[in-house]
Amino acid sequence: MMYNNILSTTENGITTITINRPSKLNALNKETIEELHNAFAKAEEDATVRVAIITGSGEKAFVAGADISEFANFSESEGAELARMGQEILFDYVADMGTPVIAAINGFALGGGLELAMAAHFRIASDNARMGLPEVGLGVIPGYGGTQRLPQLVGKGRAMEMIMTAGMIDANTALDYGLINHIVAQEELLPLAEKLGGKIMRNSPMAIAAAINAVNAGYEDGVDGYDTEIEEFGGCFGTDQFIEGTTAFLEKRKADF
Ligand code: COA
Repeated sequence: MMYNNILSTTENGITTITINRPSKLNALNKETIEELHNAFAKAEEDATVRVAIITGSGEKAFVAGADISEFANFSESEGAELARMGQEILFDYVADMGTPVIAAINGFALGGGLELAMAAHFRIASDNARMGLPEVGLGVIPGYGGTQRLPQLVGKGRAMEMIMTAGMIDANTALDYGLINHIVAQEELLPLAEKLGGKIMRNSPMAIAAAINAVNAGYEDGVDGYDTEIEEFGGCFGTDQFIEGTTAFLEKRKADF
């Protein structure tokens, strides 16, 4: 598939999606959001893809936010539609994927950029990364899930401070907050994402998708995450991958998923 704003390559079961508008610090315009949806959907539908990595091109930015030039003249309803559509086709879509998504934050992750990284299942960052939700400085609020996912990840007080001050935190603070899991030098970032991807790929993709669904259920209104866990746990039994995983253990060999 040809894209104008992203690159997507698949190798050894890992799809790496790179947002590629470096002259605009990889800002998310409408076309980029649609292309990202298509690339993630392609990865999700391809059973040979076991992990997806999302990163930004260049050494400066992961994503410096939604493209401000595109929405500066929007009306109230157009603004709401922008957020609704974005959440549906990209941010919630990524969060709900059964294929694990790792965000490799290679520089600025601001606004929609941090929201995209937070929609991923976990995040790692290079030591030059800076993260923030600067929207209130523009007279708007985060609209791609930031007001919900940031408090889930760092706690309400820290999220409130980050959102209200519109400030940026560095990689060390993000690690301290639990927003990212690891910090490495920039050239080590994709190798680390691939290494973590490799560890994930040794495990049952069916069970991983079920686990993602159970974890996410705990954050959904009106859903009892414990009930979802019971259902997903039961659902694993009798599957080929459960039989392979348990048989391999009992036969003292590596499971082949
Ligand atoms: N939307 C649209 N364009 C953006 C952008 C965004 N969110 N972020 C950066 N750009 C563009 C700049 O307009 C500039 O384009 P130009 O060269 O055509 O003028 C280019 O990317 C480079 O950015 P610049 O601001 O010159 O880089 P810098 O190193 O001086 O500053 C940032 C880097 C990240 C601090 C700064 O770009 C910034 O504050 N960006 C906006 C962040 C933001 O508010 N995001 C939330 C949006 S809701």
